[in-house]
Amino acid sequence: MNEMRLQRFLARAGVASRRASEELITSGRVTVNGQVVRELGTRVDADKDAVAFDGRAVVLEASHVTIMLNKPCGYITTMKDERGRASVAELIPLDEYPALFPIGRLDKDTSGLLLFTDDGELGDKLLHPRHHIGKTYLATIQGMPTQEEIACLRTGIELDGRMTAPAECELLAKGRLSEVRIQIFEGRNRQVRRMFEAIGHPVVKLERVAIGGLSLGELERGTWRQLTADDFAALNI
Ligand code: URA
Repeated sequence: MNEMRLQRFLARAGVASRRASEELITSGRVTVNGQVVRELGTRVDADKDAVAFDGRAVVLEASHVTIMLNKPCGYITTMKDERGRASVAELIPLDEYPALFPIGRLDKDTSGLLLFTDDGELGDKLLHPRHHIGKTYLATIQGMPTQEEIACLRTGIELDGRMTAPAECELLAKGRLSEVRIQIFEGRNRQVRRMFEAIGHPVVKLERVAIGGLSLGELERGTWRQLTADDFAALNI
């Protein structure tokens, strides 16, 4: 079953925008299973119902949607929270694409690039370490790490009795607070924060700026956009 409102069906099939599709419906130019439908609340099943516009069949290609969100701090990565906490679900277009789910997660206090898709296969590919997709973070940390400490992050640190995989790590600015760019190739719980804690420099601010070759770019905090063909090329999967 692939049910949705008729105007959404038309918009997703590329007939017209949602608003313009509503006008097409009320003006009697759309039929469902051969009957003119003028009622805006009408629901159709994209897998079963025959929809036509001006007598021509309208078909919804089975395509997936993937979006990137620039997550602000303060939102948890879940689609539903029983305790009513602010969640990323509030920031993405679930009305339009109800099957979206997050690919991995960012902590409540981490901001930056978070992907959502309705394509399970893509989600698996991006998360599985076998595909070696790096995730790049900018971390603001307490104090000034030595080159030896940075080298430890690169070669591996023991977390929960297991070494972290080799990471790329660059010290960008030194001071009372320092800034480090780190790219990791796994997704263990609170991994970046725990790696910095382990070398004695706790994280005070963390932002994910890239996944593979896909960067956050100029996307404003709290907003989202759909991935383009160039974005998929940058992900290289
Ligand atoms: N590592 C962390 O510690 N937190 C995140 O949100 C992501 C990676």
